[in-house]
Amino acid sequence: MEKRKIILDCDPGHDDAITMLMAAVHPKIDLLGITIVAGNQTLDKTVVNGLNVCQLLDIDAKVYAGMPKPLVREQVVADNVHGESGLDGPVFGPLHRQVEKTHAIKYIIDTLLESDGDITLVPVGPLTNIAVAMRTEPRIVPKIKEIVLMGGAYGTGNFTPSAEFNIFADPEAAQVVFTSGAPIVMMGLDLTNQTLCTMEVIERMEAVGNAAGKLFGDIMRFTLKSQFECFGLEAGPVHDATCVAYLIHPEAFETQDMFVEIDTNQGPCYGRTVCDELNVLKQVPNAKVGKKIDTDYFWDLVEECIKKYSDVYVGAK
Ligand code: RIB
Ligand code: CA
Repeated sequence: MEKRKIILDCDPGHDDAITMLMAAVHPKIDLLGITIVAGNQTLDKTVVNGLNVCQLLDIDAKVYAGMPKPLVREQVVADNVHGESGLDGPVFGPLHRQVEKTHAIKYIIDTLLESDGDITLVPVGPLTNIAVAMRTEPRIVPKIKEIVLMGGAYGTGNFTPSAEFNIFADPEAAQVVFTSGAPIVMMGLDLTNQTLCTMEVIERMEAVGNAAGKLFGDIMRFTLKSQFECFGLEAGPVHDATCVAYLIHPEAFETQDMFVEIDTNQGPCYGRTVCDELNVLKQVPNAKVGKKIDTDYFWDLVEECIKKYSDVYVGAK
């Protein structure tokens, strides 16, 4: 079975944590490393959250801290959805796992340059780390097999009416990535909002009875609470995990090649992914944009990954 070698770049983050859980254990994924970026919360918090998830689930992949701020704009965080810690809900034991001394940007550059061009980047937070790596060492771009990212929307946004959070948090970084020429798969809100986790799904995953199932439950119970308070929704999307689900079984997805531009002009559309769904501009497409996901496959995959974790609570090492 061909394994996809990936670097997961994330801003844990509730759905980021579930993405880590899945990527670390599925046999079709080789999780080379986890790079952390500021996004849902400030970098100091997203790093701790990433380390806590790795420690709880005994994930071997090393964790690297990346960029603490967006390239140009003032920093925004999504504490409305993810809470003060960035991962409110789950309670973790004393943290012993340590972040690597190597900076995430150096890790991404060195790993890609040393590779055979067989590494997929999976950014599921703001694109700051990816953009800085590309600008610092342009030779990495042809070494990237594919970028499968969570971000944007061809419909409406979720942080502003126009913009999805990951793009809105660093539009200039997104512009660097979307104009880089690297092959992009964009899992935007139009697709990710189809993965609506209900209480029934939570109970299904908790019934597995191990630490991973409990973590899923604690994460998504908080998510349901914040989605209701923020948007009046009765369920919570697991946006980021769709990227790993795509890598494992792309046949469960419908995508459309589109020309995607990032609006970096100040104003009501700042941070919008302007997707030419009707190809009116006749530009060469620069992204495969997710349109539909087989949600039965998705939840079965989440449960399959949770079941692969041991029944023993590994906890603080
Ligand atoms: O808009 C959804 C995205 O913003 C997800 O990546 C979530 O983790 C938040 O970062
Ligand atoms: Ca995220």
